[in-house]
Amino acid sequence: MSTVKTTHTLLARYGLNEPPFALSPDPRYLYFTSQHAKALAFTRFTIDDRAGLAVLYGDIGHGKSTLVRRLYDLYRDEESHEVILITNPDETSALQLLKRITDSCELPRRRTKLDQMRELENYLVSRYAEGKNVVLLIDEAQLLQGKQFELIRQLTNFESASAKLVQIVLVGQNNLRNKLRLKRALLSRAAAMMTLDPLTPDETRGLIEYRLRVAGRITPLFEDATITELHKLTKGVPREIVKRCRTALIVAATNNLNLVPPETLQDAGIET
Ligand SMILES: Nc1ncnc2c1ncn2[C@@H]1O[C@H](COP(=O)(O)OP(=O)(O)OP(=O)(O)O)[C@@H](O)[C@H]1O
Ligand SMILES: [Mg+2]
Repeated sequence: MSTVKTTHTLLARYGLNEPPFALSPDPRYLYFTSQHAKALAFTRFTIDDRAGLAVLYGDIGHGKSTLVRRLYDLYRDEESHEVILITNPDETSALQLLKRITDSCELPRRRTKLDQMRELENYLVSRYAEGKNVVLLIDEAQLLQGKQFELIRQLTNFESASAKLVQIVLVGQNNLRNKLRLKRALLSRAAAMMTLDPLTPDETRGLIEYRLRVAGRITPLFEDATITELHKLTKGVPREIVKRCRTALIVAATNNLNLVPPETLQDAGIET
């Protein structure tokens, strides 16, 4: 049987229209814990108030990229905003990073950092005059280094009498926190700083039920004991929850079960 057919059979068996536990950062599947909601709200305030800089920390697999995608989707279609998304800032110098930003704005390339900065500042001033709010989202910001943080700080200095010309959102794993501790001048500019923590047992249930609902299943599919066990096994880390749910569902389908019992988790650590 082909993989497509197998997947289709599994989905149909459980009343699902699409896979509920895919590992892509699809914002439709983002379940809002109070932390995720707070992170989104504070970031939006920072952007909408033109306050300059928001920082979001979270350990591996806690939903940072998914939240960034949600932000991107929110602002992308708005006439009043221009949003630049940088997902993997692996440039080695500040000038390279700056060029990646100015390339996104389709600005000409200049040889020196000073000239390139002028180019960007003029652009931001003109966008401001047109009533456009420019948003720069940087995911995996823990990859930034040395002078690139200084560049970010300089960008936060671009301002009119009352507002910042570019709103920057830095999102990164917890070692971003350690890096930023040494960049006090930048850190002190942050209007909002938030952390995504692991999910509580109730939130773990909420995430599973929410994702199943989005995929088309309305009635419970995982037994209560399975969810309790899942929380223990994953320590509330969203990506681990999603991975284990995905495998447990396959195990349940293979064994022709109507509900997903805790025993399916014993096989659920296998690589799929
Ligand atoms: N709040 C949530 N609701 C639903 N699914 C979530 C949530 N948080 C994370 N996930 C799921 O967990 C997986 C990992 O999420 P994501 O890639 O956003 O994490 P991350 O914090 O960016 O990880 P990394 O540090 O490795 O970059 C994805 O499949 C995502 O859909
Ligand atoms: Mg990520």
